[in-house]
Amino acid sequence: MKSAKIVGLGKYLPPKILTNFDLEKIVDTSDEWITTRTGIKTRHVVEKNVSASVLAREASLVALKRAGLKPKDLDLIIVATITPDTQFPSTACYLQDYLKAKKACCFDISAACAGFVYALTCAWQFLKCGFYKNALVVGSEVLTSITDWEDRSTCVLFGDGAGAAVLVPSNRDGFLSAYLGGDGSKSELLILPGGGSRCPASLDTVKERLHYIRMKGNELFRIAVRIMVEAAQKALKRAGLGRKDIDLLVPHQANIRIITAVAKRLGLTEDKVYVNIERYGNMSSASSAVALCEAWEEGRIKKGDVVVLDAFGGGLVWGSSVIKWV
Ligand code: ACO
Repeated sequence: MKSAKIVGLGKYLPPKILTNFDLEKIVDTSDEWITTRTGIKTRHVVEKNVSASVLAREASLVALKRAGLKPKDLDLIIVATITPDTQFPSTACYLQDYLKAKKACCFDISAACAGFVYALTCAWQFLKCGFYKNALVVGSEVLTSITDWEDRSTCVLFGDGAGAAVLVPSNRDGFLSAYLGGDGSKSELLILPGGGSRCPASLDTVKERLHYIRMKGNELFRIAVRIMVEAAQKALKRAGLGRKDIDLLVPHQANIRIITAVAKRLGLTEDKVYVNIERYGNMSSASSAVALCEAWEEGRIKKGDVVVLDAFGGGLVWGSSVIKWV
């Protein structure tokens, strides 16, 4: 097989909505600050005890239906998440069990906001080399479970949700190229410090609020713009294409100012960039997955279009995929 293609997309956003005005009652912030600094107006949040695998299941069922496949047809499930149900087993295993996709091998990928692009690239390679036939790739996050509701600089940014894609081998087009990168020397810029083997959970780690996201937003902002532009350019080059070939850029939705700056540097007009951050905030790995699904649902992606995914997140990690839609 020459490549792999996406044959079904799905999304799930938990029904409960948290507005900027709701946040004004929790921390010292304002709708005006959040809107102008981030572009976010609302975000979806889970009710208690709803985990990443539950959101993943709902998005996956939609994607599978649209693909015309049954869970029993799947031989690969990859879930990108930084908010897994448990450290182990993987969220992909829980999802496999929910779906009764007994034939599928399953694993998680931890690549923060670039997780969906990393996971798509893995699935594409598995399919291309003939190892598997039907793959389910999901980005699912309950970021509100690791949000510090006392920290106004982060709690206004995040939301919960999931997006899913079903991939099959393709004889022509589909995934044309990808570029993935990382820089572990800057891990401290965006980190959940507590609970791992470096800093196991204890009463002290809870008291010190080490189980929540810590972010140096300002420094990340500058890096994000440069890296996302570079990643898209490198992925396009690998596909033998240039920025003028892009029909739709689907960027990670962390901040409208990042998206606008990336689009400007790539020379893209507004109609060539998909944005939904105002409704969902930053959902890490689920952001690209939900954005891709919505862009398709809204008719923004047509057969033959060149779609570029472009994401950046904690690690640091980044990735861009170039897809010719078939
Ligand atoms: N409401 C009101 N004021 C606030 C808020 C808030 N919610 N948060 C911060 N401020 C204040 C700060 O205290 C500061 O005040 P000061 O000047 O008196 O000290 C002022 O606003 C400016 O703060 P900055 O942090 O400089 O604000 P900035 O314009 O950089 O915006 C933001 C912050 C939105 C976080 C931005 O830096 C950003 O989007 N960064 C990139 C995030 C990113 O890309 N992350 C990677 C992906 S996420 C992942 O992987 C999970």
